[in-house]
Formats: sequence, structure tokens, C-alpha cells
Amino acid sequence: MTDQTTVTEAQIAVHWQEEEKFHPHHSFIAQANMTDESIYTRFGLDNFPDCYREYADLLTWDKLWHTILDTSEAPTWTWFKGGMLNVSVNCVDRHLALHRNKAAFIWVPELEDEPLVTLTYQELYARVNEMAAVLRDECGVKSGDRVTIHMPMVPELPITMLACARLGAVHSVVFGGFSGHACGQRVSDSGSKVLVVMDAYYRNGGLIDHKEKADEAVKTAKEEGVNVEHVLVWQRYKDQYHSQTKMHSSRDHFVADLLTKHRSAIVPPVSMPAEAPLFLMYTSGTTGRPKGCQHSSGGYLSYAAGTSKFVQDIHPTDVYWCMADIGWITGHSYIVYGPLALAATSILYEGVPGYPDSGRPWRIAERLGVNIFHTAPTTIRMLRKAGPDEPLKYNIHFKHMTTVGEPIEPEVWRWYYFTVGKGKAAIVDTYWQTETGGFLCSTMPAIHPMKPGSAGPGMPGIHPIIFDDDGHEIPAGTPKAGNMCIRNPWPGAFQTIYGDRDRFVKTYYAKFNKDPKSKDWRDWPYFTGDAAVAASDGYYRILGRVDDVINVAGHRLGTKELESACLLVEEVAEAAVVPVNDEIKGKMPEIYLALKPGYKKSKAIEDKVVKSIEVSIGKIARPRHVWIVSDMPKTRSGKIMRRVLASLSNGRDVGDVTTLANPEVVEEIRQMVQGAK
Ligand code: WTA
Repeated sequence: MTDQTTVTEAQIAVHWQEEEKFHPHHSFIAQANMTDESIYTRFGLDNFPDCYREYADLLTWDKLWHTILDTSEAPTWTWFKGGMLNVSVNCVDRHLALHRNKAAFIWVPELEDEPLVTLTYQELYARVNEMAAVLRDECGVKSGDRVTIHMPMVPELPITMLACARLGAVHSVVFGGFSGHACGQRVSDSGSKVLVVMDAYYRNGGLIDHKEKADEAVKTAKEEGVNVEHVLVWQRYKDQYHSQTKMHSSRDHFVADLLTKHRSAIVPPVSMPAEAPLFLMYTSGTTGRPKGCQHSSGGYLSYAAGTSKFVQDIHPTDVYWCMADIGWITGHSYIVYGPLALAATSILYEGVPGYPDSGRPWRIAERLGVNIFHTAPTTIRMLRKAGPDEPLKYNIHFKHMTTVGEPIEPEVWRWYYFTVGKGKAAIVDTYWQTETGGFLCSTMPAIHPMKPGSAGPGMPGIHPIIFDDDGHEIPAGTPKAGNMCIRNPWPGAFQTIYGDRDRFVKTYYAKFNKDPKSKDWRDWPYFTGDAAVAASDGYYRILGRVDDVINVAGHRLGTKELESACLLVEEVAEAAVVPVNDEIKGKMPEIYLALKPGYKKSKAIEDKVVKSIEVSIGKIARPRHVWIVSDMPKTRSGKIMRRVLASLSNGRDVGDVTTLANPEVVEEIRQMVQGAK
């Protein structure tokens, strides 16, 4: 654990002022799905785990479960044991009777003059079946197989995910912005024989070659011993191919060509056990290797559906837009699975929020009549900076808005509330993680007042607890930060790190467990890796990671992943990555390098390091600055003092460094980074 985050965030917490609360507008309360405060009693610990029956009842089961929670493999929790279901049936087939003609997705291309694409539930049903036939009959995909999907925000992405779900296959969607190399590592970790991509997509007004990453991914996977047998290529434009790379004749196939053989195919859904894995979602941790978080079918879907209904307040008549990327967990739970389970209409947007200008999101919302809007603080900060008065120019009326993924500054929250939401939209600040499948903390929008900068209380059925490093509870109302944990399991929680149960137990459950043999869930608090404070009203304020993860614009990057990419550059002897505060992105990585003997500091080396990061991880991981130093500040035992470097980068005082092995380099670096005082 790095001390830099805990120490400074705790200090922030002490000086944190209570914010004024805002009550939800009466027009929102009048129509809300959840106005009954007794939900917190029904989901109290006394009624745990039976309370989650309410969420399971939102689904259609082929066979009802007999045991709500099986803890015999603690801390692997099996929810709804004995139950059988198919996720694509729950998201598509079962809605045909009432909603056949309703839009499931409305796709907005980035170019404003291209037409929208509307997929009704019937059309989605047809296309999911056809794609399932392609995967099954052309690629031999069957239940339990993993399929990696590296695609941009197009309707073919959820179609491919649901086609996998129909077959009981496990999808692993890799965010489109990740490099081919990063995708290849994930292909290899999951052992995927099939990779589904797209030739190209629009981003910031340019048509980007995406298929080239597939070749790189296949190469990386091969080096790691995994042979990709089929690369399926969707096309951004019918009958056109917008990539410079060639199609490998036996390996690469255009999906469009394969689909011609399966026109109107109907693929019987494979009924799967509730605990069958639905997908893997890779995320960064403390080591260089990303973790494949494995999510279940029944538990995950019920939690995504329940939270979408109660917290997102989605009704069948709403027009819901979550402006995240499906390549992240937010997109899985709150663009695809939650909304579809509720038969909602969900908007998909291909491009970036600021293209061609910062009015774009508001034009889309106005045009489509969006009334539920969901995005991240980074986007809110960007839109506020680029066009503070822009929302006022459009006829937009949100009843509900979400912020997710990072802490939101109270002044940014107030802009969102007053300028975007016109003081009428209920805002939920939803705190959760890739691992948790759905929300952990949030206000219930028609029940609780909102407090800018705070996520709110634990969700119904989620019972948070803050521990200090020695495992003592820090009670609510204590102005001291600690480790944010959850006392109890919940159905949305991931099941394991794919292929590495030991790492799963060690990272998330061992820290505050006192009896490793216990089969009682009470002995296994879940450790989030975040620092938090709880105010006396029970609202949680999340302060940031206590581990080696940097949250850049709401995306998790492991410092070790970045450091490994730096070390690939020949001249680099040592690398240390620290988070630095950024006005728009929240945090950004800043890099310190020490060179091997004989090499001189140069711009060329800095550029090589940035390039290496782009190739290994992707452009999202670009550092804000690269500093080449004569030596790293180190302890006498030779450990790099990242805390000291982080203080320097953030313009803070470094404190007492006299016990370091080389205190003099601290002053040298300070002069370089902060300028001579
Ligand atoms: C952070 C995103 C403050 C937190 C859904 C967490 C937040 C990490 C919030 C997970 C929030 C998420 N307020 N911080 N409302 N939501 N975080 O896995 O540090 O991409 O551990 O999941 O984002 O990021 P992930």
C-alpha cells in the first residue's frame, strides 16, 4: 500500500466542509420507481441474504433457484444456486410480446450528418440470433468458451455480447481505445480463440483504422502461447473496408459475409446455471498484469436490473442515455444489461462528447428527448470548461442525472445540477467498481437529499464499513479516512479473478479476514481499495485509491503497468509513476525516469517512453509529464520513494526526507519540477 494517497486524502478529509443538501424535485418524486423508505429495512442485515429475492424476481428463470446464497466456498459466493436462465432471453426475447416495436438501442454516429440507426427489440432479436449462429456454426463457439471483443461504440458491439450470452459463451470486451498489445494480453489471459473487431470507427472527426490493432493483438497472444483461430471483422460501412491491414485469408472473416449464410437463423438459447460466468472485464491492479474480473449470469443480471430500476429510475417510457463506453463496466451494466433487462430504450453514441463542439451532447439529448443522462465527472468538467452556458441553449429536460467513476468537486456538481439539470433533475453520485457489478453507494433519488461531492449511503442490501489499517472500525462522523469495505456479499459481486483465485482472495478478502477457514460471510469483508470517510448522516465520501491504481478520467491504470512500459525503453534503468491532480481528468500519471549509465537526458528518450506507453496500453495512459532525473529518491533499503515524487509533482511540501539514502536528490528534483523557490 502506498502511503501517499492515504496520508494526503485523510488530511483533505479533515478539512472537508459539510455541503448544503438539495432535495429532489417534487416532479421527480411523483413518478419515481422507488419512494418507499422501508426498502432499507427490507434489505437490512437482519433480512440478509433473503432480501435479494426482490432483485431475482425481476428476471425470468427457466428453473427457479433453491438456495439464495451458498457460502460453502467462501469467499466465493454462489447466488441463486440451482437457478437456470439465459441472459439474452432476459434482455431480448422476453420483451417481444409487449415491446417488439420499441427501440432497444438508438445509435448516434459521431458525424452529425449521418443518419441515426434504430434497433427495435424485434430487430435486436433477429440480429442477436444471426450473430449467435455465426459464432456457433462458423467459429465453433459453445457454452463456457471465451470470446474477446475489441470494438468501438456501435450497435454491433451489444449484438455480439448478447450473441455470446445466447450461447452461454463468456465475452471479454476490451475498451476500443486500448492498444493491440493490451488487447492481445487479455486475449491470451482469457484463452480466447475468437476475436471480434471492427474495421474502423469515428473519433474526433477522423475515421480511425481499428483492424490494425487486431493483427497486433493476435501476435501478442501468440507470443504468450494462445492461438486466435478466427478474427471476425464488422464493417463501419457496408461493403467497404477502411483499414490499411490485409485480411488474412484463413483467419479473418467479414461478419457481413458470414451472416449471409445465416439470414433469419434462430438459435435456441442455452439455459445456464445462475453462477455460470457471463463475462470477463479486465481491470488494473497493483501488479503489471490486468485482472479478468469474472461476473456471473443470474446474480449480475439481477443486480444490474434492480439498480437500474431503483437508482437509475428507468421506466419503459424513458429515453435513457449513458454516455460511457461499453468497454468499461459502466457500459456493461448501465448501457447494455440493466436497461435491456428493463426493456428500456438506451442511446449509444459513437464519438467523443466534444465533437464537433461542446454542445453536441445537448443536441443529441434535445433531438432524442433524453430524460435520463449518465456520465462521468471528467466529461462534466470538460463540458463545463468548454461551454459553461451551452446547456442553456437547448431544449433539454432531464429528470435524472448520474455521475460515476471519480469524485466530483462540489462546484462541478452544482454546475451539473443547476445548468444541465435546471435544478429539476435528481442527481445520483454512484460509487462502485468493475469488481462490484453495480452500485455500492448512492442516494436513492426520490428518498434522499443530494449532497454535492458525496456518493451517499450504502445501497439497499450493501452495508459498508470503514476500517483503519489495523482493522478497527472508524465510525461514521469521525473526520478520519480509512479503508472502504463492504460487510456482506451481494449478487452483483464478481466471482473471481479469471484463472487466479488466490489473487482474488488475497486482493479483496484477506486484508480484514480473521479466520481464513470460515464459511460465514460475516468473516469476509470485501476490501474496495478505496479510502473513504463517512459523515454522521451516513453519506460516504470516496477519496481515491489506497493502492497503486491511478484513476485517470475515470479509467483505472495500474502504476506497475505504466512502469513496465517505461522499462521496455532501452535507455531506462528505473521508472516511477505517480498520480498528479489534473483540472479536467481528475488525476493523470506523471513519470520519473533514471537512465542507465552512459545515457544522457534527451527529449528523444522522453518521446520513446510516451510511445512505449501508447503501444503497451493505449493513448489513454499518456503521461502529463516525463521527468528524467539523475537518481530516484530512495530509502536506505533501496525502495523508490514514490510518496516524495508525488508530493513534488503536486506542488506539495515533501516533509522530512533526512532519513532517505540520498536526500540531496530531492532538492535537485524539486528545483526541476517546482522551479527554484
Ligand atoms: C472510483 C467504475 C468517487 C473508485 C464504475 C473506484 C469513484 C474506482 C466513484 C473504480 C464515485 C468510482 N466517487 N470515486 N462515485 N465511482 N470511483 O473499476 O476509486 O473503472 O475504486 O469502475 O473508481 O473504477 P472502475
